[in-house]
Amino acid sequence: MNPEVEQMYEALKAKLSKIVPDVELRYKAEIAVEINALKRQRNAVILGHNYMEPALFNSVPDFTGDSLDLSRKAAQTDKDVIVFCGVKFMAETAKILNPTKTVLLPSNKAGCSLAESITADDVRLLRQRFPGVPVVSYVNTYADVKAESDICCTSSNAVAVVESLKADTVIFLPDEYLARNVARETGKHIIFPTPLPVGEGPGVRVESDLDYQLIGWRGRCEVHEKFTVRDIEAVRAQFPDVVVLAHPECSPEVTAAADFSGSTNAMIRYVQQSNAPRYLVLTECAMGDNIAAANPDKEMLRLCMVRCPHMNMITMEETRDALKYNRYIIEVPEEIRLRAYRAVERMIQIG
Ligand code: 13P
Ligand code: SF4
Repeated sequence: MNPEVEQMYEALKAKLSKIVPDVELRYKAEIAVEINALKRQRNAVILGHNYMEPALFNSVPDFTGDSLDLSRKAAQTDKDVIVFCGVKFMAETAKILNPTKTVLLPSNKAGCSLAESITADDVRLLRQRFPGVPVVSYVNTYADVKAESDICCTSSNAVAVVESLKADTVIFLPDEYLARNVARETGKHIIFPTPLPVGEGPGVRVESDLDYQLIGWRGRCEVHEKFTVRDIEAVRAQFPDVVVLAHPECSPEVTAAADFSGSTNAMIRYVQQSNAPRYLVLTECAMGDNIAAANPDKEMLRLCMVRCPHMNMITMEETRDALKYNRYIIEVPEEIRLRAYRAVERMIQIG
């Protein structure tokens, strides 16, 4: 084995021998060395979301983290090329912040059910129906939706962003469950306007005349919506000492039944800083692997039948090919980028 590959293999083995089969580690060590050479050649930085598979997560990224963290890292980089090992909305956010740099997403199929759930037209119609009400968009949206928004947020600063607006009413898009979780934490009453058929009125109908302070949208994360309170009860019945962590894209019933709810970084920190023997992490399964690798003295339970098909498109092979063939280049039209930039920049300052 070439000495650089040998060294990479030993480093991966030290962290992942209980998580990834040895034969896979050897193969991935070779690709990691290729990626790191290409990274140097192209003066690139690799940003890796916490959901990346363990061999990738532990070898090639210069920075790993949650959406907010990686947006900040993207804003600070002086490299020529940013390779985003995450999904399209994350790479777009990096491009919004770095218009002159090349931003690459290793797969052109890495979308997100939340980002797909809302369009810029939907936001414009909501603005017509609720004039003057500020719009907060979750970072899990595409650039044209961000461009129609006053400010973005991530799961780690959603409450702080809503509170920073000091407004009586806020439009919060597009994640229904994150909105309900924010409503619960801030004590705000939430409504979900019904879209009207095209050509009829200002686009949305309000079902109730109750007092409301948060206006939501019915987007869902296709991964987190699948976790149920029954899953938690079943695991607690088998392991009474388990500590349950749930991402705020889970339903409010699930986050209420969990012991802790927070962004991917917040969950990682929680496990690092507590000393329970066993944790159930209700989020993309690969993150459970990554926490297990970093905390070998703690047992991580994860429900791996629920996976994010988009995050799983980002493999080491695709990451190498992104650098080798300069693909897939993320572009954001300048007129949209400039408006989206304001919303993203405001988000980065909060939390
Ligand atoms: P974080 O911002 O917590 O990393 O979440 C991103 C995401 O897509 C969760 O599904
Ligand atoms: Fe989108 Fe859900 Fe996948 Fe996160 S886990 S990228 S919110 S589909």
